[in-house]
Amino acid sequence: MHSLKDLKDYLNTPLTIGDRDIPNRMVLAPMAGLGHAPFRQLVTEFGGFGLLFTGMCSAKAVPTENPKVSHVFTWRPEELHHTVCQIFGADPESMARAARRIEDEGFFGVDLNFGCSVAAICKKGAGAALLKTPERAVDIVSAVREAVSCPVMVKYRTGWANDPKFAVAMGQAFEKAGADALTFHPRVAPDRRSRRPDWEIIGKVTRAVDIPVFGNGNLFLAEDGIRMVSTTGCDGLSLGRMAVAKPWIFAQWSHGFEPGPDIYHTTALRMADLLSLYHEDFFAVKMFKKLAPYFCANFKFSQSILKQLMKADTMDGIRENLDRLLSDPPETLSAPNINLFV
Ligand SMILES: Cc1cc2nc3c(=O)[nH]c(=O)nc-3n(C[C@H](O)[C@H](O)[C@H](O)COP(=O)(O)O)c2cc1C
Repeated sequence: MHSLKDLKDYLNTPLTIGDRDIPNRMVLAPMAGLGHAPFRQLVTEFGGFGLLFTGMCSAKAVPTENPKVSHVFTWRPEELHHTVCQIFGADPESMARAARRIEDEGFFGVDLNFGCSVAAICKKGAGAALLKTPERAVDIVSAVREAVSCPVMVKYRTGWANDPKFAVAMGQAFEKAGADALTFHPRVAPDRRSRRPDWEIIGKVTRAVDIPVFGNGNLFLAEDGIRMVSTTGCDGLSLGRMAVAKPWIFAQWSHGFEPGPDIYHTTALRMADLLSLYHEDFFAVKMFKKLAPYFCANFKFSQSILKQLMKADTMDGIRENLDRLLSDPPETLSAPNINLFV
C-alpha cells in the first residue's frame, strides 16, 4: 500500500467480525469522556467509519443502568447497529451479565477493556490489571462468549513488560476463548500515551491469529494509516484522539471528503449544538471543554486559541468564542500539536 487511493480501497473493503460484516475498516476507538453519544452523532453525520465504540462502562453498573440518566451507557437507537459497547470489570460473571444486557439492547457487539491503566480501574483488578492475571482475562472472554452470540471483541495492550511474545500469546488465548476480533494498542502499562507505540507488535499479533486485528496508537495523518497497514498487515484501523481533533477524518480517509476552510468553525458549532441538545448547559460546557484541547491541536496558535475558547461558563459563551476565534479560519498545522493530546 502506497497511496491515499490504496488506503481508501483498503478501508472500504468489508470485514467479517463473528457472524456480522462491516462495510468499512476504520473505527472510532473507545474513549471515556470523549466518545459519548453527542460526539458519536457528530462523527456519524460525516460518516466513513465501520464501527464506533462507546467509552468504557462499568460491568457492575450496566445490568441496571438507566440510559436516560447515564452519560456513558446511553445511545441513539439508530446508531446501535454500528456501535460497540465497551465494558470494564474484574470478574467473569459480572462481565457476562453486562454483555447480555448489551446484546439485548441491540448493540453491534461488546468490547472487553483489558487495556486501561488508570490506577482507579487497575486497583479493582480491571482494565490492564487483567494482563497481570492472564487466566482471569481469558476466563472473562470465555464467560462473555458463552453469554452472548453477538460479536465479542477485546481491546488490550502489550502488557506490563515490553514483551511481544506475551502480547502474541494473549491474542491467541483470547481467540481460543472465543473473541471475534482484537484491538491492539502496542504500549506497555502504565504508559498512558507519552512514548511512541511499537507498531511492530501489531504485526506480530496480526500474524499470530486468524481473527481480525485493529491496529491502534498514534494514527494522526493518512500517511500513518498507510504505514500502519503496510508494515503490520493489520485488518483495520482504530483511531482515538485524532478523531476528536478531526471528526471528519473517517470521511476524509474512507470517502475522500475534502474539508473546506470553514470546517473547524462549523464542526465546533455543531458539536456545541449537539451537546446542548443532550445536556443541561453546565454539563454541556464541561463536556465541550474536554473535547476542546484535541480540536485546538489542529491550529498553529493552539495554546492561545484554546485558552481564549475556554473562557466561558455557558454554551452561549462558548458559541460566541467560536464565532470570534474561528469564523476567520485560523492557521492550521500539517500534524496536530500533540502537547494538547492529554
Ligand atoms: C481521554 C481518553 C480516554 C480513553 N478511554 C478509553 C476507554 O474508555 N477504553 C479504552 O479501551 N481505551 C481508552 N482510551 C485509549 C484509546 O482508546 C486509544 O487506545 C489511545 O488513545 C491511543 O490511540 P490514539 O493514538 O488513536 O489516540 C482513552 C484515551 C483517551 C485519550
